[in-house]
Amino acid sequence: MSEETTEKYEEVVEGKAKLLVYRLESYRVKGSYVPALTPVFFNPIMKTNRDIMIAFLRTTLQRTTKELRYGEMMTGVGVRCIRAILETNTKLICEINDINKKAIELAEKNLNINGVRNKVKTFCVDARMFSLMHSAPKDRFDYLDLDPFGSPAEFIESALLSVKHEGHVGITATDTATLLGNNSIKTFLKYGVIASRIQFNKEFGIRALIASIALTATKQEIGIVPELAYSEKHYIRVYVKVLRGKKYAKESISNLGFVLYNTKENSWETIKMEDVIKNNWEKGENHQIIGPIWLSKYIDNELVKSMYNNSFELSQESVDMILKIANENSEIVGYYDTDLISKSLNVSSRKVQKLINKIKEKGYVATRTLYDPKGIKTNMPNSEFIKIYSELS
Ligand SMILES: C[S@@+](CC[C@H](N)C(=O)[O-])C[C@H]1O[C@@H](n2cnc3c(N)ncnc32)[C@H](O)[C@@H]1O
Repeated sequence: MSEETTEKYEEVVEGKAKLLVYRLESYRVKGSYVPALTPVFFNPIMKTNRDIMIAFLRTTLQRTTKELRYGEMMTGVGVRCIRAILETNTKLICEINDINKKAIELAEKNLNINGVRNKVKTFCVDARMFSLMHSAPKDRFDYLDLDPFGSPAEFIESALLSVKHEGHVGITATDTATLLGNNSIKTFLKYGVIASRIQFNKEFGIRALIASIALTATKQEIGIVPELAYSEKHYIRVYVKVLRGKKYAKESISNLGFVLYNTKENSWETIKMEDVIKNNWEKGENHQIIGPIWLSKYIDNELVKSMYNNSFELSQESVDMILKIANENSEIVGYYDTDLISKSLNVSSRKVQKLINKIKEKGYVATRTLYDPKGIKTNMPNSEFIKIYSELS
């Protein structure tokens, strides 16, 4: 490295990628590194997010001799693309983009350092323009990544247009407060979803983002199948399969619906979008209506188990996260926060495992959730749940 380079940059290694990034310690505020202050964004704590992407690509990209098309709408220092080439054992043709000229210059340096420059075409345009440039059938991607600052909402439609039938798109949202319903006007403006702070708000945020992707896709006669979605740290990440055609759009919309949340009892039920459209529903006295959200399964647990088998050389933190996602039950909408239930019933806190065993004894499904160590997911009717909850010592 030249003197100028060592002054400005430092070298970090992530997976098999060697990367020049702006000196992290020069961008500290009150002792904490602030990636948004750097001339080119790089956030080391998003390694888990990128590791999980590698496991997803290793599992979903076809192992053919054919070259597959990989795209990135917002690449930063180029880390995802370099890792995808070096760590997935797939023949990838990559096209990466960032609106920041300095990012593309640095990404190109990093592509050279890793010996993959000839496999990657770079662009420096608005992300929407980049994807629309790839919307013709022969130019579409097998995998496209969308990783913005904050909300992905404004980029989703163009992203979907540049993905092949049966291709995949990975989307990050870091405006989790909005998706969790901290400011319901903001949630509606960005995602077209009516939100509210409820006891399973982390899961609500994931389902709201998927619903918003599905509704955006349907305008373009595209259907989506969510294969993996989770939330950790400050972000939500969703991977969907793209299916082109009116039939698929209609099918994916049939998975949408609303939550009728009883604010007095802290219980809820769900209603399908179709029933709302047909006015085939009733709102109880204390019910607040929130949504639309994705009501069906959003994790393909078998796929995530295969990702676990494909998680070699990834960090232990990422492998643990994959395992937790593989065990999450996304078929049941919502979970009880047992602290909240104890408080509202004025009883002492109940042991989660004891409660799970009791519910299972009665023939219902009951599991823990990744989103709350004291949370319980169950398909037991609310009145029965409250009864056994009160009776359990
Ligand atoms: C969160 S960073 C991307 C991080 C990168 N994907 C990674 O994993 O390290 C977001 C990037 O989007 C770029 N960006 C912001 N707005 C954009 C736009 N409208 N079009 C293209 N790039 C944009 C920024 O310059 C920044 O590099």
